[in-house]
Amino acid sequence: MKNIAIIGATSGIAQACARIWAAEADIRLILIGRSQERLTQVSNDLKVRSPKAVIESYEVNFTDPRAVAACVTYVTGTYGLDIALFAAGVMPTQELLSTSPALAAETIALNSISPTLFAEPILQFFTNQNHGTMALIGSVAGDRGRKANYLYGASKAFIATYAAGLQHRFAKTPIRIVLIKPGPTATAMTAELQADGIRMAKPEKVAQDIILGISKGDAVIYTPRIWGLIMAIVRKVPAPIFNRLNF
Ligand SMILES: NC(=O)c1ccc[n+]([C@@H]2O[C@H](COP(=O)([O-])OP(=O)(O)OC[C@H]3O[C@@H](n4cnc5c(N)ncnc54)[C@H](OP(=O)(O)O)[C@@H]3O)[C@@H](O)[C@H]2O)c1
Repeated sequence: MKNIAIIGATSGIAQACARIWAAEADIRLILIGRSQERLTQVSNDLKVRSPKAVIESYEVNFTDPRAVAACVTYVTGTYGLDIALFAAGVMPTQELLSTSPALAAETIALNSISPTLFAEPILQFFTNQNHGTMALIGSVAGDRGRKANYLYGASKAFIATYAAGLQHRFAKTPIRIVLIKPGPTATAMTAELQADGIRMAKPEKVAQDIILGISKGDAVIYTPRIWGLIMAIVRKVPAPIFNRLNF
């Protein structure tokens, strides 16, 4: 049986991934989140959709290094682990982040630091068993800082550099590090942008791309794929022109 931990399992994108995985045979899903109540809701929903699915859950404080270490020890020791997907994240507006240093610190703690708290002990476990895939959700926002969301973007650029370093570290091993960069996707995170009429990808489409990319061990997944091309262009726009654009 393949053991898959979804960290931040109540996220819209993570739930779409969980639905696809839960429908497959011989998979145990381990849902990890900050609220057992919400994890139970997600677990119940998955069991209705896929009655044969094997689903466990674990509540943990994502920014408490000791609690996260205990969570990883419990999950790897109790079930084993083949794939871990880190999906938790927050995206407050740049206006709020610019005026609340406490909120900015919390955002960086969840988006940038907490993935490392999970990934390092998980990768130690993968090293000992000589296989495993660690998938981290970054964002297209991490590819170039924009005035609309530069602190969130910077927190995701951290993930991109962290994943690149891990890919270098594990290059000569069977362990795979997958960096996922979604474009705007219709989840709770983007509810206000959706209300403004901004077009979004469906989480189901993003989840399909993520699961295919993880199964192939892709280094970087832009999803939907068009965002790879869009961001290649955005990265190349010269600063004097970029700074005149309003997006
Ligand atoms: N949606 C997009 O357009 C988009 C684009 C690019 C990248 N991403 C990234 O994709 C990932 C998933 O995003 P999503 O759109 O699926 O988000 P979402 O539906 O808004 O879910 C956010 C997740 O983060 C968890 N979370 C929030 N604060 C937390 C905390 N302090 N401790 C632990 N967990 C916390 C939430 O848990 P609760 O349910 O308990 O609140 C939930 O599981 C995120 O990393 C996001 O940055 C999203």
